[in-house]
Amino acid sequence: MIYIKTREEIELMRESALCVSKTLGMIAGELKEGVELAKLDKMAEEFIRDMGGIPSFKGYGGTYPASLCVSVNEAVVHGIPGKYIVKDGDVVSVDCGVKKNGFHGDHAYTFCIGNVKPEVRKMVDVTKECLYLGIEQTRLNNRIGDIGFAIQQHAEKNGYGVVRELVGHGLGRDLHEDPQVPNYGRKGTGPKLRDGMVIAIEPMINMGKKDVKQAQDGWTIITKDGMPSAHFEHDVAIIDGKPEILSTFDYVYEALGIKK
Ligand code: MF3
Ligand code: CO
Repeated sequence: MIYIKTREEIELMRESALCVSKTLGMIAGELKEGVELAKLDKMAEEFIRDMGGIPSFKGYGGTYPASLCVSVNEAVVHGIPGKYIVKDGDVVSVDCGVKKNGFHGDHAYTFCIGNVKPEVRKMVDVTKECLYLGIEQTRLNNRIGDIGFAIQQHAEKNGYGVVRELVGHGLGRDLHEDPQVPNYGRKGTGPKLRDGMVIAIEPMINMGKKDVKQAQDGWTIITKDGMPSAHFEHDVAIIDGKPEILSTFDYVYEALGIKK
């Protein structure tokens, strides 16, 4: 069942999304060669609680142990931030969720650390482009399949693999609500998009083949071919027929000194 949000609820969700955006901005300033992932997670949890939020991921599924998912290189998503020390040339996807006022925010950014190979950097850039192409399709009377179609087209045109096993989702009082939002699909298929829907769009794109598997830790999803992967996520509401992005990468750009 798809829960339609009121304008008031969407404003609360914007606040939750902004808490995530600010957390990712803080992390962007700390994520450098030599830093331990567990330290980043501890900082994120404190930062979230200081804003009056609750980390959405901690305890997810009964066992998820952290506030962030940090997925390095061949890790696609759901990496547990542990003792790993960030190295030059890593691509690091950081996913974060915050619950505040009863609603979740959930978004993600993939960072390139130092000297990342140009072909890997391109894959990261294309994944971000996929996210915005998906968002463009998030409008009244389009369908969920239009979003996936746009993402898949752009990724495959560039020779990349689109992960099938994990998808975007509705977002609200639950972290994962209906509908599912696949990063692949056919135009004009799937549930119709309506005003008041809020969805998390999150392309997971592999530089090599689309196939993934679960790592030994029971959480981390990694590429089967060991090639790198990227993941970007935004929270998007449909207001007056058009997509409105509730989350923002502005804090990340500010921390990285990137001009938009
Ligand atoms: N951000 C993930 C998603 O969009 C959720 C993380 S799962 C958790 O589905 F276990 F890490 F919480
Ligand atoms: Co999500």
